[in-house]
Amino acid sequence: MSRKKIAILISGRGSNMGALISAAMDPSFPAEISLVLSNRPDAKGLQRAQDFGIPTAVVDHKDFGGDREAFEKSVDEILKANKIDIVVLAGFMRILSPYLVNAWAGRMINIHPALLPSFKGLATHERALEEGVKLHGATVHFVSAEMDDGPIIIQGAVPVLDHDTPDSLAARVLGVEHKIYPKALELVASGKAKVKGGTKVTTGDTAEATAPLIWP
Ligand code: GRF
Repeated sequence: MSRKKIAILISGRGSNMGALISAAMDPSFPAEISLVLSNRPDAKGLQRAQDFGIPTAVVDHKDFGGDREAFEKSVDEILKANKIDIVVLAGFMRILSPYLVNAWAGRMINIHPALLPSFKGLATHERALEEGVKLHGATVHFVSAEMDDGPIIIQGAVPVLDHDTPDSLAARVLGVEHKIYPKALELVASGKAKVKGGTKVTTGDTAEATAPLIWP
């Protein structure tokens, strides 16, 4: 089995990146983490990736004076030069233009800290508490032109407790993120997750695909 080559794009601490790197250390995992790329030179995750011996790159969006496409072209060149198969967004805080989204259609995935289609955008945990939802969670999806949209690969749900603060809820959701992201990447890299009709993803409903959906 040839392992798919993965680039993880980050902007910050990179805890999801760490979970993906750990999962990919298993030689039977269908993907290897070949590159970690950040748009911020000071992203904590860069050092973390280097500690694991993973090559890193920085493309600072500030060097492109607001020209989103020029920034994305530069990112794309690095991805191609590294022969990347699948791009994984893990806390990458740039809105992507159609240029990069189209170039990687069906080969780019993202994690969002909410049960999509609820709570797209930022401050998801604050808004979940304001709305009084009893279940919250995280979603891994293929990236499409709309922000926090695109076919859903896997979701993980957590309970919302009476005493929760945005921070305590975020921590519980992050725990489930670290479980579902490696699982989603495994499904995509092995070809088990398939987009059906342009909007839905089928995974074959195997026990291994559905087991981590509810946490704890
Ligand atoms: C995560 O909550 C992820 O869902 C969101 O940004 C955060 C990144 O955290 N997109 P980390 O950098 O992976 O720790």
